[in-house]
Amino acid sequence: MRAALLIVLGLAIGIVGTVFAMNALEDRNPLPHAMMVTMNFHRHQLQQAIRGQHCDASATVEQLQSMQMLSKDIPAAFPDAPQPFLDLAHQLHSAVQTATQSAPADCPALIAALKPVDKVCGDCHKQYR
Ligand code: HEC
Repeated sequence: MRAALLIVLGLAIGIVGTVFAMNALEDRNPLPHAMMVTMNFHRHQLQQAIRGQHCDASATVEQLQSMQMLSKDIPAAFPDAPQPFLDLAHQLHSAVQTATQSAPADCPALIAALKPVDKVCGDCHKQYR
């Protein structure tokens, strides 16, 4: 009898705990995560182009432009971010802008153009992810 009561109590605590945890997850601002997933989508598209040795200049610029627009939204998507974080977001924007303006015409040019971009992704993730 006592064991059965404890099991019921345990289940009840488990259910309440799950509801609390689910509410906490829902309260979390989904935008930063969503933005990074989208950023990574465009970076991945470029990686696929490189892997397939098919780096079409206009397709490349389109992906880079999307990344540029996203990088501009980072400050708004990460409210309360500290200044060094915002500086890194700005660095990313500049790096992607430079890459876009260099208009990589083939895969080796694209690989070279992405290097400074990837460095900023890494620099920010090392500190803030
Ligand atoms: C200014 C800082 C900053 C820059 C620059 C940055 N990120 Fe992030 N990134 C973050 C933070 C913070 C997280 C964790 C966000 C979260 O999950 O809520 C993150 C998470 C991620 C994730 C993990 C998402 C997941 O599924 O959990 C990916 C992928 C990612 N970033 C890709 C990129 C790529 C690609 C770039 C460069 C083109 C980049 N990020 C540039 C700050 C940055």
